[in-house]
Amino acid sequence: MGNVILIGFMGCGKSTVGLRLSYRLRRTIIDTDKEIEKEENRTISEIFAEDGEAYFRDRETAILRKLKDSANNQIISVGGGLPVREENRALLHELGQVFYLCAEGWTIYERVKDDKTRPLLQVDDPLKKIETLIKERDPYYRAAADAVVTVDGKSFPQILDEIEELVNEKERTVLAEG
Ligand code: S3P
Repeated sequence: MGNVILIGFMGCGKSTVGLRLSYRLRRTIIDTDKEIEKEENRTISEIFAEDGEAYFRDRETAILRKLKDSANNQIISVGGGLPVREENRALLHELGQVFYLCAEGWTIYERVKDDKTRPLLQVDDPLKKIETLIKERDPYYRAAADAVVTVDGKSFPQILDEIEELVNEKERTVLAEG
């Protein structure tokens, strides 16, 4: 409870924003992808290749259930596809304040085009795939989020200022409500 959660498409900046936010707010950071890789002792690409996407999605839900019992006042950065599952959105909501880092397809493409670690983007036309997936997932991200933070054309300090302000606002409300 009381966690700050970052959701959004691959390459929207969740990991970088999460790390910088953890310094600013003096909270530790957890990344669901890294937790899964650690527990499985293999990379996301290996998990997709050996056991398929459905297996990976079940691992994501399992990690969230575990975090629900253990994570307090942390920064949690989650994989891009995690909020698509309804149960996961409910778990995110219980875990804390959810921020959707919203980016245009082109911004994402520029950041991930040379990246080989994301199995879903190893296709002939990654930009098209990115745009299709964003369109499909955007409603889920919005449904899961307490706040939408647009990242296109913004610097990291700008994005961090926006999130920090909303986190502080929430803390003031919680304190006022006792
Ligand atoms: C995925 C996003 C990845 C990782 C996996 C699947 C997705 O995480 O969980 O490759 O379905 O969007 P990042 O968003 O951290 O890249």
